Amino acid sequence: MSLKLGEIAPDFEAQSSVGPIKFHQWLGDKWGVLFSHPADFTPVCTTELGATARLEDEFAKRNVKVLALSVDGVESHHEWIKDINETQNTTVNFPILADSDRKVATLYDMIHPQATEKTTVRSVFIIDPNKKIRLTLTYPASTGRNFNELLRVIDSLQLTDNRKVATPADWEHGKDVVILPSVSNEEANKLFPQGYDTKKPYLRTTKL
Ligand code: BEZ
Repeated sequence: MSLKLGEIAPDFEAQSSVGPIKFHQWLGDKWGVLFSHPADFTPVCTTELGATARLEDEFAKRNVKVLALSVDGVESHHEWIKDINETQNTTVNFPILADSDRKVATLYDMIHPQATEKTTVRSVFIIDPNKKIRLTLTYPASTGRNFNELLRVIDSLQLTDNRKVATPADWEHGKDVVILPSVSNEEANKLFPQGYDTKKPYLRTTKL
């Protein structure tokens, strides 16, 4: 059974490149991004981990801890991290889970046998401070993910958790948002004194 949005992210204990991790305890009160890789020493994964490392400050700014997973062991991860740092011109500071027994991959349904029999596909889980799953993504092994898109989703979640708005297609931080249809015009007048644009009764945009 695949994990669904709103469910509590399953807890686990596992070895990683920085030592043992108890997932929920490790997350503490932060947001989390858990993402899987088919295997160590593979080209696309190497670029993905480099891209994530380069965005370290952006994730930290948003109170997010990132945790990678690959189904190889700790020693292999250490050797691979050296290659990532060298070829991607960065420093990997986040942990990589060493999921050789595929315990976490199975718990999170990251192995799709019809796609790749033994290794994981490229799964992503965004987890909020209440440990709830807020986003799931599944990419094929052949396609590297866009890590700026993960930041964009986190920006949207953190904004819309606190305001009665949603974010439209291709939204980025600073662009207009849409007012939730459940908000009456009367309430909208109070919540958005800066005004809003009514394109249709159900499509009202505003600047925050
Ligand atoms: C890669 O990470 O480069 C990769 C892994 C598995 C299949 C194809 C590409």
